[in-house]
Amino acid sequence: MKDKLKQTYFIETWGCQMNEEDSEKISGMLKNMNYKRTLDREDADIIIFNTCCVRENAEQKVFGNLGAIKALKRKNPNLIIVVSGCMIQQESMAEEIAKKFPFVSLLIGTHNAYKFPEYLNRLKNGEKQIIDIWKQEGEIVEGLPIDRKSSVKAFVTIMYGCNNFCTYCIVPYVRGRERSRKPEDIENEIKELVAKGYKEVTLLGQNVNSYGKGLEPSINFAELLKRIDKIEGLERIKFMTSHPKDLSEEVIDAIANGRALCEHIHLPVQSGSSRILKKMNRHYSKEQYLDLVKMIKEKIPNVALTTDIIVGFPGETEEDFNETLELVKEVEYDSAFTFLYSIRKGTPAAEYEEQIDEKTKHERFERLVEVVNEIVIRKNKSFEGKTVEVLVEGLSKNNEENLMGRTRDGRLVNFKGDKEDIGKLVNVKIVRSQGFSLLGDKII
Ligand code: SAH
Ligand code: SF4
Ligand code: F3S
Repeated sequence: MKDKLKQTYFIETWGCQMNEEDSEKISGMLKNMNYKRTLDREDADIIIFNTCCVRENAEQKVFGNLGAIKALKRKNPNLIIVVSGCMIQQESMAEEIAKKFPFVSLLIGTHNAYKFPEYLNRLKNGEKQIIDIWKQEGEIVEGLPIDRKSSVKAFVTIMYGCNNFCTYCIVPYVRGRERSRKPEDIENEIKELVAKGYKEVTLLGQNVNSYGKGLEPSINFAELLKRIDKIEGLERIKFMTSHPKDLSEEVIDAIANGRALCEHIHLPVQSGSSRILKKMNRHYSKEQYLDLVKMIKEKIPNVALTTDIIVGFPGETEEDFNETLELVKEVEYDSAFTFLYSIRKGTPAAEYEEQIDEKTKHERFERLVEVVNEIVIRKNKSFEGKTVEVLVEGLSKNNEENLMGRTRDGRLVNFKGDKEDIGKLVNVKIVRSQGFSLLGDKII
């Protein structure tokens, strides 16, 4: 039965881990205001959509969902509907949404989400609709409450914004310029997490390698990693995302010599053609990327490398695309996120002539996925019979008799174990690869 004493909120998040973390902060603020989370939007007093605009399909989903909840607002005129996040930060998007979906109560961008409680109070005091988008990022706001999804692993943002302006990408326009959190604030947050029993942190930033710019006293990403690696009780440190142009040897050495630093680097390549990389404004060539991969593999022999690849960037020829396929085969990624190029209004690439037709894009995409999958499946198969360390996150999604967790290098493992193991590190012998995940038995 519904707890009548407490009001409830429903929150849905699209996009990257950074958005996930923002949603955890919104949840934290609501929890402090005595709201309870519900997973059923029909039951909610507040519905929040925290949006992404990195590709067009992310936006379509938001429009679809807004259309679907119109009826709920009609049934319950007191329902508060909030749309926040990157999509709203785009030029004239808030106005467009307010026009198409006038029943939305609150539209806020990425820079002012921390004011959530204030906006909510205004709405509860009778304001019908608030639109507030800040054009510019402000100072970093520390100390916000945060209600994390997991009690085992946590996201910790170390820097906000992006200065890179890859020509396809909307992120710098909606997340503002780079600014880094102070190392002591990051350390304190992680120490508090460890005290609560967390075992793993993932440090977040659009380009963590440029962490520290502008901070006094000066500090770079490798130095931050080494400091965090000393935190007692912290078992695993991961980070994302690492821009290849800025990944230093010092960071690679820190991982190679580190304790909790995990042997996994997410190193988005985007394309295997130097010509296209130049048009993307990525500031590295295919050869430089491959040299970097070589150094990483030499220094961290059991490293897992993952990547992001865009197919069908304007002007991509069959030869360019074949170079991407060749690069994927050479690097042998442990996993890869593959995307169809999506035109983002306001970015330079949106204006490029030679946009690739949808059919060609899809056809290349299928070919790429086939090559990626063959490698991923082959690599996972090589784990059969091996023993791996798994951080147990919870019950398996498909079979609640099993537990699920991840290896240090990010592989998903399902295994037979005890519920008491949740939150612990256990050794698991891999019995069988299931293609994209591993199946095993706990070693007692
Ligand atoms: N800061 C990270 C990634 C942020 S966005 C980095 O630099 O790697 C995540 C991924 O979305 C990107 O790596 C890119 O592969 C993809 N992406 C960004 N804009 C895109 C677009 N317009 N069309 C298709 N994919 C895009
Ligand atoms: Fe986008 Fe490039 Fe910045 Fe990544 S580094 S967020 S791809 S502009
Ligand atoms: Fe999307 Fe914003 Fe992340 S556009 S990918 S949610 S930074």
